[in-house]
Amino acid sequence: MIDTPAIVTRDLAKRYGALQALAGLNMTIPRGAIFGFLGPNGAGKTTSVKLLLGLARPTSGSAEILGQPIGERASRRRVGYLPELFRYQPWLTAREVLLLHCELAGVDRAAWSREIEDALAVVGLQDRGSSRVGTFSKGMQQRLGLGVALLGDPELVLLDEPTSALDPVGRHDVREIIRGLRDRGVTVFLNSHLLSEVEQVCDRVAVVDRGKVIAEGTLDELLRSDTVRMRVSGLPRGAKDQLAPFGAIDEDGDWLVVRGVDADRVPDLVAHVVGLGGRVHAVEPRHETLEDRFLRLLSGD
Ligand SMILES: Nc1ncnc2c1ncn2[C@@H]1O[C@H](COP(=O)(O)OP(=O)(O)OP(=O)(O)O)[C@@H](O)[C@H]1O
Ligand SMILES: [Mg+2]
Repeated sequence: MIDTPAIVTRDLAKRYGALQALAGLNMTIPRGAIFGFLGPNGAGKTTSVKLLLGLARPTSGSAEILGQPIGERASRRRVGYLPELFRYQPWLTAREVLLLHCELAGVDRAAWSREIEDALAVVGLQDRGSSRVGTFSKGMQQRLGLGVALLGDPELVLLDEPTSALDPVGRHDVREIIRGLRDRGVTVFLNSHLLSEVEQVCDRVAVVDRGKVIAEGTLDELLRSDTVRMRVSGLPRGAKDQLAPFGAIDEDGDWLVVRGVDADRVPDLVAHVVGLGGRVHAVEPRHETLEDRFLRLLSGD
């Protein structure tokens, strides 16, 4: 069983009335991967997760998680899930919420107390276990949600925007938790539009737009590393057009951004800028960020 991928989808599609929320999703996510699923609002990320969990039924296509067709209860038990928008019953304490979910997830009763204390500790709520959820800040509620997703040692964890409510420290903590899951061989499916975050933890990403995957691969495969940023002053008007043979030129404040330059042509580029009357204060080779790539993809480039 362990040699089956964590997730396989085949032309998985979902239509809500006239609206095609997901238009034929094909992907294979290997076990142990930290997979980032990116896309703008309404792209179909949450829909995908709900289909994988059997919380919504596909209009067509099929999928398997952990070697079982989606919707089977047996596989659901081995999957942790942090929903995108959720509210736990405000009158319950954090411990009671976790207890309830231990029961729902079918965690062995003898392990409940250890599971609950571990979950509280992992998400940094060990001192708040007896507080009512209604008194929690939204970041604390999100931490609790992550704790719920981790109960019962799942093999696959689906996180739908796990850090949308978190402060920078909380985001850092979540990255550490995700890295810890990777070390234990757990597969993580991470829905996000926080690209820098995805960049920091994911091995592979897919970009989805209007229900279709428009790019997929490892970060190395997706991100160009042929961009150079130069801080230049004194360049006469119009001079930058003469740099076009080196690559696509953009401006970012005082910086000239040149995309598509071969590393060996950088000295020529600098000489050229100087020849045109520019004063070069800094030259930085740069990996394209996931954000640049994302915006390029969505602009149809
Ligand atoms: N229950 C539903 N009934 C009707 N339409 C729906 C339903 N759920 C989602 N949709 C539509 O499907 C599309 C995809 O929505 P989805 O929630 O999957 O987007 P998303 O990528 O998760 O967006 P976000 O980044 O805003 O969370 C949207 O156009 C949405 O309006
Ligand atoms: Mg969503």
